[in-house]
Amino acid sequence: MEESNILTEKDGPVATITLNRPKALNALSSALMNELADALEGFDADDGIRCVVLTGNERVFAAGGDIKQMSDSTAADMVKRESPSPWRRVAKTRKPVVAAVSGFALGGGCELALACDMIVASESAQFGQPEIDLGIIPGAGGTQRLTHAIGKARAMEMVLTGRRVEAKEAFEMGMVTKVVPAESYLEEAKELARTVASKAPLAAQLAKDAVLKAYDGTLDAGLDYERRNFLVLFSTDDKEEGMAAFKEKRAPNFEGK
Ligand code: HXC
Repeated sequence: MEESNILTEKDGPVATITLNRPKALNALSSALMNELADALEGFDADDGIRCVVLTGNERVFAAGGDIKQMSDSTAADMVKRESPSPWRRVAKTRKPVVAAVSGFALGGGCELALACDMIVASESAQFGQPEIDLGIIPGAGGTQRLTHAIGKARAMEMVLTGRRVEAKEAFEMGMVTKVVPAESYLEEAKELARTVASKAPLAAQLAKDAVLKAYDGTLDAGLDYERRNFLVLFSTDDKEEGMAAFKEKRAPNFEGK
C-alpha cells in the first residue's frame, strides 16, 4: 500500500496533521492537497476537535507545489484539477488552524502557512515565494495573503526576487505569530492550539470567521485573479524552461516567450 501523504492524530480537542512526503521535501502534490482538504473537512465535522495544528518536519514545512508534477502539466491539466480546488477547501476550514513551521516554507508551502490562522515558527524557519525563478507566480494566495500581512513594498520584493526571509524577519514584518526555539516549535504550536481549544468553540469559530472578513471581500476576488495569472503562465515557454532547469539542477535561461 502507498504511504499516506499526510498523517493525522488527535489529542483531546486538538488534532495534528503532519505533511508526510519527506523525500520530496513535502512538495504539495495534488494528491497531498486533496488528502489535506479531506482531513480538515473531517476535523471540521468532528465535534470532539476544536483546533488543528498543521506541521511538517524539522527540515521542511513544505518546499512548495510539486514542481515535478507541475512541469508536465498544461494550463488545461491545472484547470481540470480545480473542481473544486483543494486550496480553496483548505481555506474554508471553520475551526482555527495553527501552522507549526520549521525549516523551509517556500512557494505553496509559504502560502499554505499563510492560509492557516496563526503561524508558530521555529528559529530555523525560512519563508519565501521563489516561483519567479520557475517562470511562474504564486498561485495559492502568495500575492494576496502575503500582501495583506506585510504590505505592498515588502510583498513585491519577496514575490519579484524570490528572496527568502528568516523567522525573525518574518515576525518583524507581521507574517508570523511568534518565533520560538527550534526544539519546541511543535509543542508551542500545540500549546497555543490547546489554549484556543479551551475557549467556547462556537465563539472561536465565529471569531475566526469575523477576523477573516476584515479583508475577505477583496481577498476572494484577489485569489481568483492571482489564480488566472498563475494558470496563464502554464502556457509559456518560460514555465517549461524554469521547471526543466529545476529538475536538471541548473540555472534557467528565460526568453520571455
Ligand atoms: C518537487 C521537490 C521540490 C518541489 C524539492 N524537491 N522541492 N520536488 N517539488 N517543490 C525535491 C528535489 O527535487 C530533490 O529530489 C529533493 O526534493 C531534495 O531537494 P534538494 O533540492 O536536493 O534539497 P536542498 O538542496 O536542501 O534544497 C532545498 C530547497 C530546494 C532550497 C527547498 O529543494 C528548492 O529550492 N526547492 C524548490 C522550491 C520552490 O521553488 N518552490 C516553489 C514551487 S512552485 P531528488 O529527486 O533530486 O532527490 C509553487 C507554486 C505553488 O510552489 C502554487 C500553488 C498551487
